[in-house]
Amino acid sequence: MKFPQFSMLPFLMVVVMLSLSGTTLSHPHWDFLHCLSLRLANYSTISKVIYVQNNPSYSSVLNASIHNTRFSTPATPKPFAIITPLKTSHVRSTLYCSKKHGFQLRIRSGGHDVEGLSYVSEVPFVILDLLNFRAIKVDTKNEVAWVQSGATLGELYYAIAAKTNTLAFPAGMCHTVGAGGHFSGGGYGTLFRKYGLAADNIIDARMIDVNGRILDRKSMGEDVFWAIRGGGGNTFGIVLAWKIKLVPVPAVVTVFTVNKNLEQNATKIFHRWQYIAHKLPDDLFMNVWITKVNSSQVGMKTVQATFRGMLLGGVDELITLIQDKFPELGLAEENCNEMSWIESVLYFGGLPLQSVDILLDKNALPTLSLKAKSDYVKEPIPESGIEGLMSMFLEEEADNAVAMIPAFGGKMDDIPENELPYPHRAGNLFEATYIVQWTKEENAESGKYISWSRRLYSYMTPYVSKSPREAYVNYRDLDLGINNNDYTSYEQASIWGFKYFKNNFKRLVQVKTKVDPMNFFRNEQSIPPLLSPWKKKGN
Ligand SMILES: Cc1cc2nc3c(=O)[nH]c(=O)nc-3n(C[C@H](O)[C@H](O)[C@H](O)COP(=O)(O)OP(=O)(O)OC[C@H]3O[C@@H](n4cnc5c(N)ncnc54)[C@H](O)[C@@H]3O)c2cc1C
Ligand SMILES: *[C@@H]1O[C@H](CO)[C@@H](O)[C@H](O)[C@H]1NC(C)=O
Ligand SMILES: *[C@@H]1O[C@H](CO)[C@@H](O)[C@H](O)[C@H]1NC(C)=O
Ligand SMILES: *[C@@H]1O[C@H](CO)[C@@H](O)[C@H](O)[C@H]1NC(C)=O
Ligand SMILES: *[C@@H]1O[C@H](CO)[C@@H](O)[C@H](O)[C@H]1NC(C)=O
Repeated sequence: MKFPQFSMLPFLMVVVMLSLSGTTLSHPHWDFLHCLSLRLANYSTISKVIYVQNNPSYSSVLNASIHNTRFSTPATPKPFAIITPLKTSHVRSTLYCSKKHGFQLRIRSGGHDVEGLSYVSEVPFVILDLLNFRAIKVDTKNEVAWVQSGATLGELYYAIAAKTNTLAFPAGMCHTVGAGGHFSGGGYGTLFRKYGLAADNIIDARMIDVNGRILDRKSMGEDVFWAIRGGGGNTFGIVLAWKIKLVPVPAVVTVFTVNKNLEQNATKIFHRWQYIAHKLPDDLFMNVWITKVNSSQVGMKTVQATFRGMLLGGVDELITLIQDKFPELGLAEENCNEMSWIESVLYFGGLPLQSVDILLDKNALPTLSLKAKSDYVKEPIPESGIEGLMSMFLEEEADNAVAMIPAFGGKMDDIPENELPYPHRAGNLFEATYIVQWTKEENAESGKYISWSRRLYSYMTPYVSKSPREAYVNYRDLDLGINNNDYTSYEQASIWGFKYFKNNFKRLVQVKTKVDPMNFFRNEQSIPPLLSPWKKKGN
């Protein structure tokens, strides 16, 4: 890359800005700012793009996309600068200057990484925050769309629904999740039994590689295009935008919720569900949530299994289907609701059904502190095993815990394991994501919640996938192992790598070795190149 020299003026403005705010900076920090300000052309751009600590907006820009307040404490390592590029050249400049001056780069889109990897690092780092890369172009005629990485799923769904009520996109259920990280790890929601993962429906992408080259599917080649659709973020390059294939949905879908607590045979019904749900038609999505709730006896608690789902069809068809295949659920018309697909997004997102505009609101739901872990289940869990799982939810630490258990099968059974990096396809009855949550005020006691999640995970060992015990990379779990910062070995990374990717891990390592042999794009669980270079301490 060759960059023209601009005048010193913009940089001097930054110097003034910093000295006014009382920041003291060491040499590499100055050098980085100097490098970047030279390339951003003028002060007006600089003030919109560079946020250093002590800039009055730094903290709000940092917090705006933190979706796990476990990583929003005074002790959490903070980036020396947050860069919010307005255009592609700013992204390239940030990449160039952080490489040149030895700062780690953390790419952030929606900021939902459950281990905070997009905004926390143990070494000096900057955040490349794609909050201004949120454009979405929907082409209903060709049934495709381009979506920039910083856009949220809510913004994407909203943009599709603004044009048509018979096209959709099969991605996650939480409206504030970002396309950038979500698509990079697979991504699924209520349409995945019909159409597969979000990543299965990506047909092109625009990416910047470590050398600053802007690539599309053709110029990056099929290996890299394969790897970025599920191999995890912050690893192969900076994905700026994705071209996605839209999928047909009927104008009317039917959603339903049935709650069963322990006194209402929740254990038995969930046990039965395991034999049935994965074999139901792919037009049906069904998810079980296990949570602690108030019992009908005042002051007592029980555990509830919430069976929530959606049929791509009408209510009569749904009731007939469930009465035939799963009568134990006792589904009745009052549990069901016909609506448009976009309204179902609100329903599954836990949002009020009044107005779809709320999909554009990133603060519609409160942010908590959380720890997540995940499993895949291939054999039905015996009733005694479910009883133990249920009783763990009665423990004190589980007040705000949930096990989210979507049935697999359908289209997921038809896609070969090596089609994309995401390998958890045929043979899975369901996935289970365990999330334990607490408030920011309770962060000092986070240890007790995290150890509850570890005890639950350990309890589940006999009932879940083995050799490897598979896990979903989008619910990253650093308990599975991390890369050393100064040297990343293939062997060490294999421990978690095979859990997330099974044999696809090997191909991911090959691709990484080709596109980023010096391992510039890295985090605690990024794919290492085969012969990972040693890093100087602190870089
Ligand atoms: C409340 C909540 C609900 C969720 N619901 C679902 C769900 O329904 N289905 C599901 O499958 N998953 C779900 N997830 C998991 C979610 O898919 C992942 O956390 C996802 O990685 C988040 O993407 P993001 O852009 O919001 O996060 P970020 O934190 O911004 O990014 C995640 C990772 O990708 C990297 N990255 C981000 N943008 C880019 C880019 N443009 N180029 C390269 N790398 C990038 C980051 O550095 C980081 O390592 C949920 C998570 C939470 C916290
Ligand atoms: C700063 O640069 C941007 C484009 O990079 C331009 O649109 C804007 O007019 C410039 N502002 C000044 C004050 O020169
Ligand atoms: C950002 O979060 C931190 C940590 O919770 C808090 O101290 C700070 O006041 C927040 N800043 C803003 C602007 O909300
Ligand atoms: C629970 O199941 C038992 C038999 O398995 C049945 O007799 C009982 O009525 C059920 N209870 C409820 C609340 O459905
Ligand atoms: C559960 O019960 C407690 C009192 O025991 C009460 O404060 C709380 O509001 C109840 N929660 C719900 C969701 O009803």
